[in-house]
Amino acid sequence: MNLADVLIIGCSPRDGGNSDIAVHETARSAVSIGLSVEKLFLRDFRIIPCKGCRICAQSPDFRCVLSDLDQGRLILEKIDLARVVCFCSPIFFYHLPAQFKALIDRSQSYYERWIATGNQKADRKALCILVAGRKKGDALFRGSLLTLKYFLDPFNRKISELCLRGKDGRNDLKKDTAARLQVSDFILRELENS
Ligand SMILES: Cc1cc2nc3c(=O)[nH]c(=O)nc-3n(C[C@H](O)[C@H](O)[C@H](O)COP(=O)(O)O)c2cc1C
Repeated sequence: MNLADVLIIGCSPRDGGNSDIAVHETARSAVSIGLSVEKLFLRDFRIIPCKGCRICAQSPDFRCVLSDLDQGRLILEKIDLARVVCFCSPIFFYHLPAQFKALIDRSQSYYERWIATGNQKADRKALCILVAGRKKGDALFRGSLLTLKYFLDPFNRKISELCLRGKDGRNDLKKDTAARLQVSDFILRELENS
């Protein structure tokens, strides 16, 4: 598999919205310091939800029974191998959108591998940029961040997050120069320390 320095994953079903702008801003920042990037958008992939069968826990290579039926495994392998991974996602009902959550549930096979192999050193980064329409709310990002932390533990990744509020219309982030600067500052700071 050909690997870029930074894998950037857009997690919104809305094409050209705020999460997509965050993806492009992230890519621009990474390229500006000489890194290579791969961008992908979950809406372009087929991801079947986890069946909860737990066969992955018993299979010798922790393989999911759905692996050959969709592209979930392909994306999880990329997340597993990337040096740095960055997720850009909207908040839907105080959580992550359904397709992103479907991918997360499909990572149960990686959780089983992690538990069985005991390799639990979080020595790599996952950058998470979350975008919400609401301006207020202490708990707006809480559930998503908790899920992201436990999703990424089995990939030995520690999360760093940037949470943006009050971005609802499709072009809100595009029009907000200060917020886009916040994104590039966050990315440059995190990439310098990775
Ligand atoms: C189904 C749905 C649920 C949403 N739930 C929330 C929410 O719980 N809290 C919030 O602040 N914004 C919520 N929003 C607004 C989105 O977070 C906001 O529009 C965001 O900018 C969308 O990102 P995108 O442009 O990348 O798709 C929701 C939007 C949709 C479509």
